[in-house]
Amino acid sequence: MSPRVGWLSLITCLVVGCTSESPPDPRIEEGRLLYERYCALCHGKKGEGYVADNATALGNQEFLATASDELIRRGIARGRPGTTMSAWGKAAGGPLSDADVDRLVAFLRAFQSKPSVDVRAPVTGGEPLRGQAVYATFCLECHGVEGKGQKYISIANPELLAVASDGFVRHAIEFGRPGTPMPGFGATLTDQNLRDLTALVRSWAKPATEPPTELPSKDLGNPVVNPTGPDAVFDAGPYAPAAKVKAELDRGARLVFLDARAPGDYSREHITGAVSVPFYSVTDYFSQLPRDATIISYCACPHAESGAAADALVKAGWTKVKVLDEGFFHWKTQGYPTKVGAKP
Ligand code: HEC
Ligand code: HEC
Repeated sequence: MSPRVGWLSLITCLVVGCTSESPPDPRIEEGRLLYERYCALCHGKKGEGYVADNATALGNQEFLATASDELIRRGIARGRPGTTMSAWGKAAGGPLSDADVDRLVAFLRAFQSKPSVDVRAPVTGGEPLRGQAVYATFCLECHGVEGKGQKYISIANPELLAVASDGFVRHAIEFGRPGTPMPGFGATLTDQNLRDLTALVRSWAKPATEPPTELPSKDLGNPVVNPTGPDAVFDAGPYAPAAKVKAELDRGARLVFLDARAPGDYSREHITGAVSVPFYSVTDYFSQLPRDATIISYCACPHAESGAAADALVKAGWTKVKVLDEGFFHWKTQGYPTKVGAKP
């Protein structure tokens, strides 16, 4: 710093007060707006998590101290296939550019007060087989067989394991995620147990599949299933149970299945005959949606996104709108009709 600049800043300090902080990164505020539009309905306004389904606490200090920007960026852009965490990046059919993803990373980073922990070093000396018994005792009830399909985050997801270092995994097990259901096991388990569990989780890694390239059309055509059928009949209230919707479908009633998720999820699998109308851009589709057929809004989480889409329609005057109560995954496990690909 030249002496002149030094004097200048000293004078500025005396006049307006001095702070050592640099001006706030504009991406944080831009990221906040994106976050509130696309993420808060599941992860919570402050990243507290668990507003919908098992969306994690993105503002958690242990998470932020160990998650690399790359882990967060890739999680957002490519999602966690097979879960309700969609791929939000443009390349996967989502609404976000690379710069938007960076804005979201900056927004989430701003929650971090704990210094980052270097978790890049490999964790060695672990034996997956030995980890299995420990896993069955301490982890299975929450993370499921081979790390998936249970009530909380899938720790075997190929997208996660493609970017999570051994140290990230071990740190989560050792210190937990205070304020969430994830306990810290540092006091219960030995160092060897932690190494074995880390090796076990690592052994579940599989090559990640590429997101679908074919995406649903923005031109919905005629979105009505059974266009000449009778009016659908449902009980009062915003929700309709899957069994009742299926019964109305089989009765030949006029229905529109509105898939409120991000388009990549639609291409991976959707209810047969559904149209893709993401919850964050429902207004763009108003002119294409009928008012004389019952619209069944659905997502997988099980009804945060579909609820938001239904609210937008009701606010704009639609009266025949129902939210599929148990969501897409339940519909699918019942063996009700679903379809893979970009076409209804
Ligand atoms: C009571 C339920 C519960 C138990 C028991 C539990 N976990 Fe977790 N685990 C969670 C939850 C919930 C999260 C996500 C927390 C958050 O919001 O950040 C999590 C997160 C993790 C993560 C970080 C994943 C990521 O991408 O952020 C790892 C790794 C993990 N758990 C491994 C384990 C292992 C190994 C065990 C057994 C030693 C275990 N967990 C036991 C509930 C549990
Ligand atoms: C429909 C609910 C939902 C919405 C909307 C959503 N997420 Fe998620 N997100 C989840 C769930 C559920 C998981 C855990 C997935 C799993 O089990 O692997 C997750 C996981 C993540 C992870 C990985 C966390 C970890 O510990 O590994 C990141 C990062 C993330 N979400 C960021 C976002 C951002 C940013 C947005 C908005 C652009 C967003 N999510 C929108 C439900 C959602």
